[in-house]
Amino acid sequence: MALQRTFGIIKPDAVADGHIGEILTIIEQSGFRVAGLKMRRITKNEAEAFYAVHKARPFFAGLVQFMTEGPSVALVLERENAVAKWREVMGATNPADAAEGTIRKRFAQNIERNSVHGSDAAETAAEEIPFFFSAAELL
Ligand code: RTP
Ligand code: MG
Repeated sequence: MALQRTFGIIKPDAVADGHIGEILTIIEQSGFRVAGLKMRRITKNEAEAFYAVHKARPFFAGLVQFMTEGPSVALVLERENAVAKWREVMGATNPADAAEGTIRKRFAQNIERNSVHGSDAAETAAEEIPFFFSAAELL
């Protein structure tokens, strides 16, 4: 299978808790190459646009509040089958359902403050990567 790129975020909870290094280590040990990386606070407008698919959900306002409470680390991750593999390494949305050894099992606090984001399909990754990165910022 050809190399693929996906988009990830180390969310504000995991950044504030001091888990950036551990999460990047898991990522690299899982066979990904970090093709892009930046840390900054996502704006309210960006969070609303990024999670627009969830606009009608009851958790939307809380999600936007959470994602803008402090800096995040945005990532572009490359390997074979990157989209599916990154979702596997992240674990289930709710850490209570996440498999042993996954990032969310280890670091997530609850279904909302769940430490990482990952694109859910190749088409989504193709939209999310340029949302945060210019070509000059990527390998
Ligand atoms: P993500 O998009 O962040 O990678 O997470 P996901 O695909 O596993 O989950 P998704 O359904 O897309 O939900 C996006 C994010 O919204 C928050 N959430 N809160 N309170 C709730 O019931 C609830 N459900 C989802 C989480 O931060 C989730 O990752
Ligand atoms: Mg999602």
